Amino acid sequence: MGINLKGRSLLTLLDFSYDEIRYLLDISRQVKQEKRAGAVTQRFVGKTLAIVFEKRSTRTRTAFETAFGEEGGHAVFLSKDDIHLGVKEDLEDTARVLGRMFDAIAFRGFKQTTVETLAKWSGVPVYNGLTDAYHPTQILADFQTIEEAFGTLRGRKLVYMGDARNNVAVSLMIGSAKMGLHYVACGPNELHPDNSLVAKCRKIGDDQGATIEISADPKKAVENADALYTDVWASMGEEDKMKERIELLRPFQVTEEVMRSTGKRDSIFLHCLPAVKGNEVTVEVIEGPASRVFEEAENRKHTIKAIMIATLL
Ligand code: CP
Ligand code: NVA
Repeated sequence: MGINLKGRSLLTLLDFSYDEIRYLLDISRQVKQEKRAGAVTQRFVGKTLAIVFEKRSTRTRTAFETAFGEEGGHAVFLSKDDIHLGVKEDLEDTARVLGRMFDAIAFRGFKQTTVETLAKWSGVPVYNGLTDAYHPTQILADFQTIEEAFGTLRGRKLVYMGDARNNVAVSLMIGSAKMGLHYVACGPNELHPDNSLVAKCRKIGDDQGATIEISADPKKAVENADALYTDVWASMGEEDKMKERIELLRPFQVTEEVMRSTGKRDSIFLHCLPAVKGNEVTVEVIEGPASRVFEEAENRKHTIKAIMIATLL
């Protein structure tokens, strides 16, 4: 049976199978090639997308907006200051109204329950553009970047260094389990992912030959890594924790020495961005030859376009 994602929302990668993620990555590779070749495609003519964001964004917002617009669709950006989001009216009512105005909704914000409520009540596909819990669209771009660097995804070793329980880290763990990677979450014990989610990912990963490891030892964790990944030490909404995080996370900074410790000459460095250079990664690494962060950022657009093609057409 062919894959059919029409009408589906993307709230977390937990809801998607290996074949479905593979399908999205294949579409993304194709739309990237089309874009590179200068092809003009108008797949979303007559369609509308609401981009409802409670938190700031550079990449995710522009990826949704340009991907939709390039295909002839009309995207409307609505920040929390523009609409009655969780104030004055029930979220369920906002969702039902948006569902009658738009063909799809992209949401970025705090609670995962908000994006779930939008999906439940709007009746249109809803895409999670980051919540406190997950950042699923990011991981598709990360995986496309790994695949472009190495030709394959399955069996690659991906090591996340730092705040290993944040939205990006946890989503990488889920994605790795689904796609058969060897994932290591390396950070201080205080910032390790939730045990029950680790157990769930190990179970998912068993079918795909994936392994999930939790570590507090950077030197050992990065041995043989194909990709080292890090993210900010304090995510949006956690700015007040920065002081304690700097102390906790300093030993997990990605430096040139850490990159060398992989023992592989072709290991790459990834970061979802925005990056605080000098905190989670040194300038030398992010600006260095192993860094793929801007390819990764560009791939946000192609993967997001792929998700919308798969769910809207
Ligand atoms: N990586 C990412 O989500 O970036 P933005 O916060 O700029 O959207
Ligand atoms: N973990 C970061 C990711 C930003 C794209 C945050 O939530 O702020």
